[in-house]
Amino acid sequence: MRIHRRPNGIDLPFSSEITPQAVFEQRRRFIKTLGLGAIAGTSLWEMSQRAAHAQSGARLAAKLNPGYAVLDKQTSFKDATSYNNFYEFGTDKSDPAENAHTLKTRPWTVAIEGEVKKPQVLDLDALLKLAPLEERVYRLRCVEGWSMVIPWIGYSLSELIKKVEPNGNAKFVEFHSLADPKQMPGVRSAVLDWPYVEGLRLDEAMHPLALLTLGMYGQVLPNQNGAPVRLTVPWKYGFKSAKSIVKIRFTRDMPRTSWWLANPREYGFYSNVNPEVDHPRWSQASERRVGEDGFFAKKRKTLMFNGYAEVASLYSGMDLRKYY
Ligand code: MTE
Repeated sequence: MRIHRRPNGIDLPFSSEITPQAVFEQRRRFIKTLGLGAIAGTSLWEMSQRAAHAQSGARLAAKLNPGYAVLDKQTSFKDATSYNNFYEFGTDKSDPAENAHTLKTRPWTVAIEGEVKKPQVLDLDALLKLAPLEERVYRLRCVEGWSMVIPWIGYSLSELIKKVEPNGNAKFVEFHSLADPKQMPGVRSAVLDWPYVEGLRLDEAMHPLALLTLGMYGQVLPNQNGAPVRLTVPWKYGFKSAKSIVKIRFTRDMPRTSWWLANPREYGFYSNVNPEVDHPRWSQASERRVGEDGFFAKKRKTLMFNGYAEVASLYSGMDLRKYY
């Protein structure tokens, strides 16, 4: 989300395509041949899930949840993995795909702290087992004016929240991304106040749409998409969906999020997708769907809450111009 660049969502063509679709398909065929997808016994299945998460590009099985699947044409795997925002690996759209191979995603732990009755540290195996993995096809709309449609894999964040039992003081949830300059070259620059911190109100975090995400396109998350675990909050601008999460903190006070700290006038805490509230420097009324490029490609109208109208009751009585 480079603030001073491409303010109208007019982007450069993709410059790096490290995982061509052909390689992806070939990999899927190979894994299918191994028969991993057909293993029925729970423990073997679990083992394959765990093994999968040790290796980028490995298959991660999940059943499609049709209740959470938009019908829009899906963005190609190639586009979704070569056109990214992940400032820890650089500020150009192609930087994460080029640089994120240095991210070590095993072992990985997520510390859960703050206003909870059961603070704990969960490793990746515990996260994979916490609830059944589902495939959900969500639109994600970036504040810069582009969007994608991605088959994510994960489960509702509420599953994890219920497990740690927030206490009566918990009003907000903070998400901290890894910030390791040894693995993440972008963290050496002062482009943001590291670590990347995002946050939600507790009731937003409990909404079933908020997805704790461990994979996409039938495989573990590619590093550039926030491996091994990220958030996907489809009714909010993409920057609310923190990547490579290492800490989840329950708080009384509204989190001081990285983008809000960088520019509070431009990036409010709520950041719900709202075509009626422009970014101070550009309109949010329409968007470009990544992949629908070309001279004649028409922009799409941006929908309130990115089309996820079921979240509206979370904000009843709130002036969404004030709470942008
Ligand atoms: N999380 C971290 N840690 N660092 C980032 O720079 N960028 C955000 C969000 N999560 C970002 C992040 C932004 S601006 C967007 S639009 C989405 O990730 C992009 O997710 P994608 O690259 O998987 O499409």
